[in-house]
Amino acid sequence: MMGSRRAPRAGLAPLLAAIALAACAAPAVEPAADAASPAAQPDADAGPPAAPYAPLRALARFVDRDPDPGVVEVDLEAREAAWEYAPGRVTRALAYNGVVPGPLLEARVGDTVVVHFANRLTEPTTIHWHGVRVPNAMDGADTAQTPVPPGGTFEYRFTVPDAGTFWYHPHVDEPVQLERGLYGAIVVREREAPVAKPPANESVLLLDDLTVTADGQIAPPGGISEGHAGREGPVQLVNGGTRPELVVRAGERRILRVVNAGSARFYRLALASGAPLTLLGTDVGRLASPREVADVLLVPGDRVELALTPVGEPGGAEMLRALPVDRGQGAGTVSPIDLLRFRATSDAALGDPGPLPSPGAPLPPPLDTNGATVRRVVFDERTDPVTHAVIFLIDGQAAPDVPTLMTTLGTTEVWDLVNDSEMDHPFHLHGYFFQPLAREGAPFPFASWEDTLVLPARTTTRVAFRPDDRPGMWMYHCHILEHAAHGMMAHLHVME
Ligand code: C2O
Ligand code: CU
Repeated sequence: MMGSRRAPRAGLAPLLAAIALAACAAPAVEPAADAASPAAQPDADAGPPAAPYAPLRALARFVDRDPDPGVVEVDLEAREAAWEYAPGRVTRALAYNGVVPGPLLEARVGDTVVVHFANRLTEPTTIHWHGVRVPNAMDGADTAQTPVPPGGTFEYRFTVPDAGTFWYHPHVDEPVQLERGLYGAIVVREREAPVAKPPANESVLLLDDLTVTADGQIAPPGGISEGHAGREGPVQLVNGGTRPELVVRAGERRILRVVNAGSARFYRLALASGAPLTLLGTDVGRLASPREVADVLLVPGDRVELALTPVGEPGGAEMLRALPVDRGQGAGTVSPIDLLRFRATSDAALGDPGPLPSPGAPLPPPLDTNGATVRRVVFDERTDPVTHAVIFLIDGQAAPDVPTLMTTLGTTEVWDLVNDSEMDHPFHLHGYFFQPLAREGAPFPFASWEDTLVLPARTTTRVAFRPDDRPGMWMYHCHILEHAAHGMMAHLHVME
């Protein structure tokens, strides 16, 4: 959503933030802190029924070194770090500023963001600001930037034009670098928002899952079947920790900004009780009006903003879950996964949860697509006859051989994204937002702007966008990291 507004909540925010901080307990600034907290338990080996819940980990915050309220200037370092992803379970992660997830980057619309990045890994890396409309040279993708070598530095500098929930991650060796912990969330608030003060009832959740080997290390990319389906690990993580719990007041409304930072898992979010969720926003800020939904699908790279009043009765509990998803060819979530438990205190229920955040300014209107040429972009796969590995294709070729599409600034692009395979693919476009128009000819039920959208198997999805500024080579790819790594990656060259 672009240029949206929301009424600031300056009055209550500091007080409520303090309460929320107290309720959230140990922030994950130092992974070891969690082990020392009273909630830490000896071992997660006991299995899910007996394993304890731990307070939802608070995201680390950056130190803003520029006093100018319009400039967010931070230091960011990628390096190996110890990560205690579950009580007593420490693994060697790749981490931003030593924590997984990396610190939460917060800014307001129009702010200048300056990131002094240092690569202390033993391999090259970059940072991609997923969903933020940055200049091409700041995008961190292959054609946009020479990767920062080990020991090297780079200054990322851009303004943030849109409110919403975004995230950052490397665009080099993604199945390894993201899986091992290099990702963080970005929240851009409306210009009028109080600086760096999230509403006290808001939580940012980064979802991920892990595959850990017998010796406790994060498994390197696996064989042919993982290369095909993408990795769905058995260890379920929210904000870098397992089995999180959020203590709430009965009747209290919570706002969740959720990011799917996983390699391949599709999360169909729902409440265990069947109570509805209120969808406030998708990839790019808020919808024109909130929508009540039974569940919401979050594919890799996706974000949503949800409102919910999880627990009505003092002392009650509720569970945010990921429901089963069949994403084709046997891949997907088979049985429900518990993600986040809500537990109400014994305080009397709040009578009124208060208003929803205002949707603010309407989304940009639908693009006029009359007379636009429709391009067909075909996603498919093929098995290599020699290695039997699956190769993922766009327009019949695997990266880096996919022909680059060409367009010019100001051209309205209408793309028919044809998924000719038996597996769903989350399509992600760099640089611009697109509007989903229709799937199999049927219009989408509501207007939104996205940068990531699922292409279900054997269907055609029509989207429209207009590259109106920031020329350059922009990537588009499947956000299942293994699929992108095995060919499903291409470029759109936007010329002046
Ligand atoms: Cu989230 Cu091309 O990336
Ligand atoms: Cu894919």
